[in-house]
Amino acid sequence: MQVKKKRIIIDCDPGIDDALAILLAINSPEIEVVGITVVGGNVDAMKCAMNAIKVLEVGDRLDIPVYLGESKPLVRDLVTAEETHGKSGLGSVLVERNKNHDLIREGAIDFLLENSENTHLLTIGPMINLAKAIEKDKVKFNRFLSITSMGGTFRSNGNCSQVAEFNYWVDPHAVQIVYDNYDKLITMVGLDVTRKCVLTPTHRQLLKFIDTKLSRFIYDITEFYVDFHWDQERTMGCVINDPLAMAYIIDDTMATGFSSNLEMVLDGNAIGQSMIDIQGFYKRENNVVVLTKVDEIKFMNMFFSRLFSKHKKDIDIIIGKS
Ligand code: BDR
Ligand code: CA
Repeated sequence: MQVKKKRIIIDCDPGIDDALAILLAINSPEIEVVGITVVGGNVDAMKCAMNAIKVLEVGDRLDIPVYLGESKPLVRDLVTAEETHGKSGLGSVLVERNKNHDLIREGAIDFLLENSENTHLLTIGPMINLAKAIEKDKVKFNRFLSITSMGGTFRSNGNCSQVAEFNYWVDPHAVQIVYDNYDKLITMVGLDVTRKCVLTPTHRQLLKFIDTKLSRFIYDITEFYVDFHWDQERTMGCVINDPLAMAYIIDDTMATGFSSNLEMVLDGNAIGQSMIDIQGFYKRENNVVVLTKVDEIKFMNMFFSRLFSKHKKDIDIIIGKS
């Protein structure tokens, strides 16, 4: 029986883990990627667009359109994350200009608005394109069937200040606009759950063993990320945030959470913090589902099995089933 595919748009800032989320999406039979919209974040917007093209080249899916979006946050200056994602944004993998970059199209905001019907939105970068789309046409924006957002944090520490997660910290004003104006609950896939999804040295050894164009690409782009994690927090391996949000769209039994109200801190030392009013102090309407528990083995198994289906047996042995 043929299952009806979920149409999704991926709004992203590739980004090592964004690249992994795109690869998971294009290797999942239940998903139809309608397009990729790009925003400045991990690196500047044009580099992110070139990286999206690079990922589509590796995944043989250059038919998916890539749209260049906003390059600057609404109020703050853009702060990028080359120390985490490398100068190119894909670790130490260089992305040189080639003819495929002519495929990059202008007009991310219009693309989002014109394709919101019957479509799910995955947002794994700063929410600037989304906020701009709402400013332009809130009615069309609200046609998105769902929004799943990698960003924010509830009880886990921040990753760019004590309390703030990168995507929400880069443009907290945009995040507030999106949560205030979208008429359904947004699923927040924050650091509470993504931190548990670590690509370990054993997983990377498996990539080496599989030895395909795709596995070598993932091995190469994550090398820099692994070094960063060791230098920064003495973690072996690297946290892969964005693909978990994609995995949750494919299978929402992957993680669980609770509904609440989210409000952003817009200035001061705690700028970019996602405040979750779990006790209902402010008596505001719920606007978020905060994920707090994840089955990380199920996630890792899904990620590897989708990308490397021929190696199911090795994947089950090395990663385990859940
Ligand atoms: C998020 O920030 C970015 O650096 C990653 O790509 C991810 O989307 C994690 O905080
Ligand atoms: Ca990202």
